[in-house]
Amino acid sequence: MSLREQIAQLATFNDDSAAGGITREVYTPTYARALEWVAERMREAGLDTRLDAFGNLWGRWTGRDAGAPRVLTGSHVDTTLNAGRYDGVVGVLGAIDAVRRLRADGFEPHRGIEVLAFAGEEPRFGTGCIGSRALVGQLGPDDLRRMCDRNGVSLAEALDAAGFPPDRVPEAAIDPAQVHAFVELHIEQGAVLERGGEQVGVVTAIAAPHDLRLTVRGEAAHSGATPMALRADALAGAAELMLVLERLARESPSGTTVGTVGVIRALPGAINVVPGEVQLDVDIRDSDLAARETVVAELLRAAEAIADARGLSVDVEPIVVDTPVACAPAVIEAATAACQELGLTHRAMTSGAYHDAMIMAAKVPVGMIFVPSRGGVSHHPDEYTAPEQVDDGARVLAGALRRLASA
Ligand code: HGY
Ligand code: MN
Ligand code: MN
Repeated sequence: MSLREQIAQLATFNDDSAAGGITREVYTPTYARALEWVAERMREAGLDTRLDAFGNLWGRWTGRDAGAPRVLTGSHVDTTLNAGRYDGVVGVLGAIDAVRRLRADGFEPHRGIEVLAFAGEEPRFGTGCIGSRALVGQLGPDDLRRMCDRNGVSLAEALDAAGFPPDRVPEAAIDPAQVHAFVELHIEQGAVLERGGEQVGVVTAIAAPHDLRLTVRGEAAHSGATPMALRADALAGAAELMLVLERLARESPSGTTVGTVGVIRALPGAINVVPGEVQLDVDIRDSDLAARETVVAELLRAAEAIADARGLSVDVEPIVVDTPVACAPAVIEAATAACQELGLTHRAMTSGAYHDAMIMAAKVPVGMIFVPSRGGVSHHPDEYTAPEQVDDGARVLAGALRRLASA
C-alpha cells in the first residue's frame, strides 16, 4: 500500500460529523482502532511493537549494537477538531516508510531505530504533547487529575478508561542516555515552503506557547431593561481585550509573535442576558522567548486597565508555558545532507507550530523535517500535501536516519 493509500485509509478512522474534516481524539475508541491499524503497518515493516504506560505506540528496529543509544523518530495520529488528514500522520506513516526503504536498501543500523506514535499531541486536555511530556517526566499525578477536556473528563479518567492506569504513567519515562537523537517529519502547516518554492524544510528552532485562561467577570443583567450606562458587560470587555492581543502580537518587535483566542465561553449564553462572565483561552507563541513574554505582560496590564475602566474583574489561570527550542546541529546536518544527496531543494526555517520534538528537546537532541502544506492550510479539512511531497519527506527522513543510526 502506497503512503498515499495509507493516509487515505487512516483518515477513515474518524469521529467527525462535519463533511470533510477529521476528528480523532486521543484515548477515544476510534483513536484506539486507528492506533492498532498503525501498529499493523509497523509490524509489516519488521518493527517490534509495544504500547507504553501512557499509550504511546513504539515500533523498534534493533541495531547491531543493541546497547547503543537509539535514534527515535515519529509524530502523532491524534487530531484536533474538524482537522485535516496529514498533521502528524505524515510523520508516523512516513517514518514507517523510511524504515521500509532502509531495509529494502539492505541497510543495517548500528544503533537501533524506534518509530513512535505519540499519544495526545493535540490539546484535547488543554495542553498539547502529553505523550512526549510523559516520556520526559513532565506529567505528575496532579497534572493527570487537573487537565480536563471540554466535557470535563480528566486525563486521569481518560487514561483509566483506555486501559492505562494513571498511577503507572511514570513507567513511560525514557532514559535520555539511551537516546541518540529524535527526528520528526511533519507537514509545515504554514506557507513558507510553498511561497519560497523549496521542497523540504530543515527546522532550526521551534516556537513555543504561553497559554492562559482569562476569566472576565461583570454583571449579568436584563438586555432590555438595563441602560447602557449601567452595564458591566463581560463580553464587551473581553472583545476589547482580544483586539489588544491582536495588536500586541502584530506589533511585537520579533516579527514572529502570534496571539490567538481560540476558545470563548460567554455565560449565561442567552440572547437576552448581558454576559456576566466570559472565559478566554489564549494562545501566545514565539521562537523568541523575550518577545513572547513581553506580549503576555502587556496583555495582562491591558486586562487590568480595561477591567478598571468597565467595572469588571479579570482572573488569570496558566494553561501551559513551554520554552522555545533550538534543534541539534547533528540532526540539522543529517537532514540537510539527505536533501543534498537526493537533489531536493531545501531551506532552514523555524516552526511556528509546536510538536513533540519541542518537548523531547528537554532531554535529547532533536530535529525536524518539513514538507509543504498547500496554501499553508492546516487544522482544517482542506489541509493537503501532495503524494510526491510526502514521499520526498520519507526519503529525506530515511537519509537522516541512516546517518544518525550509523556508527
Ligand atoms: O498547536 C500546534 O501547534 C500543534 O499543531 N498541535
Ligand atoms: Mn496539530
Ligand atoms: Mn502535529
